[in-house]
Amino acid sequence: MIEFKEPYFLLSTKNTSMILSFKRGKKLTCEYYSSRIVSIDEAPSLEKDFPFNQGTSIALDKENPSISEDYLKLELSTYGRGDYHDPSLILVGKEGTSIDLRYDSFEIREPNYDLPTPVPHDAKEELVIVLKDEKMGVVVKSHYLVYEEKDVFGRYLEIVNENDGEVIIKKASSCLLSLPNKDYVLTNLYGGWAGELNREDIKLKHGIYSRGSNAGLSSCRYNPFMMIHEDRHSINEGDAYGFNLLYSGNHLEEAELDTFSMLRLQIGINPLLFEKSLQKEDKFVTPVAILSYSSHGETGLSHNMQGFVDDHVVPPEWSHKVRPVVYNNWEATMFKFNKSKIIGLMKKAATLGVELFVLDDGWFGSRNDDSHGLGDWDVNKKKLPGGLKALADKADKLGLKFGIWMEPEMVNENSNLFASHPDWILHDGIHTPVEGRNQFVLDLAKEEVQDFIYDSVSSVLKSANISFLKWDCNRSLTDFAYMPGNHSYDWVVGLYKVLSRLVKEFPCVLFENCASGGNRFDLGMLSYFPQSWMSDDTDSYQRQIIQGNAALGYPLSVMSNHVAAKTSNQMLRLTSFDSKFDTACFGVLGYEMDIGELNGMETKILKSQIEYYKAHRELLQFGKLTVFKRIEEGNEGRFLASLNDEHMFGLFRKIQLPNPPEGRMVVDYPLDKNALYEYEERQESISVKKFGHLVNMISPIKLKEDGYLLNLLSHHMDMKSEVDKGMASGSALMNQGAFISQEWSGVGYSDRIRLMGDFGGRLYYIKKKE
Ligand code: GLA
Repeated sequence: MIEFKEPYFLLSTKNTSMILSFKRGKKLTCEYYSSRIVSIDEAPSLEKDFPFNQGTSIALDKENPSISEDYLKLELSTYGRGDYHDPSLILVGKEGTSIDLRYDSFEIREPNYDLPTPVPHDAKEELVIVLKDEKMGVVVKSHYLVYEEKDVFGRYLEIVNENDGEVIIKKASSCLLSLPNKDYVLTNLYGGWAGELNREDIKLKHGIYSRGSNAGLSSCRYNPFMMIHEDRHSINEGDAYGFNLLYSGNHLEEAELDTFSMLRLQIGINPLLFEKSLQKEDKFVTPVAILSYSSHGETGLSHNMQGFVDDHVVPPEWSHKVRPVVYNNWEATMFKFNKSKIIGLMKKAATLGVELFVLDDGWFGSRNDDSHGLGDWDVNKKKLPGGLKALADKADKLGLKFGIWMEPEMVNENSNLFASHPDWILHDGIHTPVEGRNQFVLDLAKEEVQDFIYDSVSSVLKSANISFLKWDCNRSLTDFAYMPGNHSYDWVVGLYKVLSRLVKEFPCVLFENCASGGNRFDLGMLSYFPQSWMSDDTDSYQRQIIQGNAALGYPLSVMSNHVAAKTSNQMLRLTSFDSKFDTACFGVLGYEMDIGELNGMETKILKSQIEYYKAHRELLQFGKLTVFKRIEEGNEGRFLASLNDEHMFGLFRKIQLPNPPEGRMVVDYPLDKNALYEYEERQESISVKKFGHLVNMISPIKLKEDGYLLNLLSHHMDMKSEVDKGMASGSALMNQGAFISQEWSGVGYSDRIRLMGDFGGRLYYIKKKE
């Protein structure tokens, strides 16, 4: 809801309010952004007052001698008129660099979704506040989108040149927010390939903290999501603010704690590699930033963000639409496959209960390794006689949907595409372009390249019954031609043009975002592609970190996770299939090991996992994830997915220790304390090999550890885990917790011992009793 009572605007969502004011010399400020207030008439009591200007401060103007831009809680800050913070907007005109934007007018209107970069859909209203610098001939429109139910606002700027000469934009953050400081802690998500989304909490100090990407992609170095929160004991308490950007290129987030202990936060395009020239009447629109507040700490904030992405970011056709269980052949075969291998995997996948078969890299051109064929999107008939159609038809007969992998933005030097269009790649005309994973980047700023990508992808999709496309992007960007300039921005906008054409034409195809795992995991990509391959790391411990930290800003439905071979390709860590499932099931489940090699016992295990997942899929894909113990901080991880009255509790052990403490299922989440909840653990399979030579304590014949007989036995029989089930009130579960079986402590095994082992896990389904 948006209300106006001069000089105030009150923007309200279900639980939050924002007061904007132009009382002080017509400067646009944010005087309050916190819990929902009752009335716009509270505004004068909530805004900051300035009886005197202090010491060395610069007065706003003759009419406002007691006000300085430097103290104002500005909604956009410029340079040259007394504000000495890092500006959020830097414009250079022929008259110089000083900008003085003052309130001119406003409009409340239906949201406009037709921007060069994605806009979250289904906003209730849009407020446009027009600011002008008459002397400079510049108009800046500050836009506010309201997503009432999710407690989220969207913000972007529209900059119009009304000057006769050129105006150059050097920096234009989409959002600046000024807040009184409360000793906030900033949560940063940083990472690298196979180790994305690590969390770091930083106590803000005076000065500027900044991080972002200049890799051309949003990158996994620093995810655009950022949170600040009070340093409270409980994750469910205190103020928490979250920010994110609907943009997939270079971005920058800044937190400046100034000498008056006012906090200014910015998010937007990274100015380092950006410059945009506006001629008379030209305009530039920044990407949309989103911001959210919760008084329920990081839990409340992350739930706002998760719900918002599910309801307003992912394409409406896919919002809350159940996602299929996938099998993908990448880790099983890499480039080494032929038709009969693929059909063998398909047949096995169908018997396991998989719903969608995805053929990964290597099906096209001369692509038998990663140095050839990228860009040549014709099926390799030597490997796959009958082409994609034959495979899609076979999948259909087996009751499976069929999907493929493509990496449409890239080209190998060894390809027909490069031979015929060497000038289509990013290059500056002077240097030899540099390669990453043996490939160059196509210049998506060029219309002919956009058309080529669109045509190639759509003709592949039309060539067979293909209902899924994993869209990869395996290197960061280099060799921009006009730099400093807007080449990298134009490249991203070019990509969005292609994506919007494709998703419009193929609304029923499920697109999965991937960039060597999570190297472009952002809200821009999720606006087109409703799910994302989170990481090339399929090790369950690493995935608990990645998925758990992603949940601060992103929902389960976008996290695509596969159970892979027991020995992780990336970490060489050995974990059971069940432990891998316990983590992978939080989100969109898939499989990636060579299922052709599964023995009887393993086949049984996978079948029962898929059956269990299907029975709880809505909860695991659309529940809100709360991580109330992070495994990387101690020896235990605790996840909880919650949807209405159902919950899935995930318990993870890092390493087995002697003398384990009493096991308790404590649910640190607002349950109904007077209601009763029934819970039941999923029974896991424990390999007889887990006991090593101790198996001889019960075996009638002598079995050698690692011997042929024990191996053979493990293919046909297993041990069953304990099954804790019972009933407890919300009150008990939220406090002391329900007792769960004694963890293995070195002696004796029975169905009341919880043998989790190193990197083990357990799942407990909890449901409120009617
Ligand atoms: C990237 C992806 C993998 C796989 C390979 C194929 O690394 O992240 O999942 O698709 O490319 O080359």
